[in-house]
Amino acid sequence: MKPFLIAPSILSADFARLGEDTASVLAAGADVVHFDVMDNHYVPNLTIGPLVLKALRNYGITAPIDVHLMVKPVDRLIPDFAEAGASFITFHPEASEHVDRSLQLIKDHGCKAGLVLNPATPLSCLDYVMDKLDIILLMSVNPGFGGQSFIPGTLDKLRQVRQRIDESGYDIRLEVDGGVKVDNIAQIAQAGADMFVAGSAIFGHPDYRAVIDNMRSELSK
Ligand code: DX5
Ligand code: ZN
Repeated sequence: MKPFLIAPSILSADFARLGEDTASVLAAGADVVHFDVMDNHYVPNLTIGPLVLKALRNYGITAPIDVHLMVKPVDRLIPDFAEAGASFITFHPEASEHVDRSLQLIKDHGCKAGLVLNPATPLSCLDYVMDKLDIILLMSVNPGFGGQSFIPGTLDKLRQVRQRIDESGYDIRLEVDGGVKVDNIAQIAQAGADMFVAGSAIFGHPDYRAVIDNMRSELSK
């Protein structure tokens, strides 16, 4: 099992002072910045793009940035995000006409590549592309908004994805996104996740370090 990574979703950060808030959450012990890109087409919400990612890099954010693309089409944004400084780029397979091509495009631009599975997306979308995946992101809410409740049925799906990864022998991270809190993170880890996105649980609390420390202590139980 890989070391656990905590990835605060800056969707719930203060956008008026995004650089400072992102630096604060990293200083509080976060490992990765989760960067949610929504296009008001694939999902019913509109957020931030490559210019904002580049601004965070210019501000001095050096931590890995995990770009979660909730956009359709996918491909034309990949070079822009890679050049802006993305570390991971993940996308939803139903938003790409050619999933293998999109994964390869991400890798050709020097980023780690991954697929995102919605709660109702079948695992068959992983067939034939496991060798191209650095990460699988399993949604535990329907994408589009922060602050939703974790869908309990996704725990069983998580176990199935863990098994697929282990049987494949590939070195693939398993990330969970949506409704992750201090009181369910241990259960999510037990089901096989090794990377945890948390937006409202962290940014909705005045003391980021306290939440992240509590998450880590739950993970070490
Ligand atoms: C939802 C986003 C999530 C969201 C998570 O579409 O992909 O990353 O910000 O927020 P919480 O942790 O509040 O569920
Ligand atoms: Zn996300």
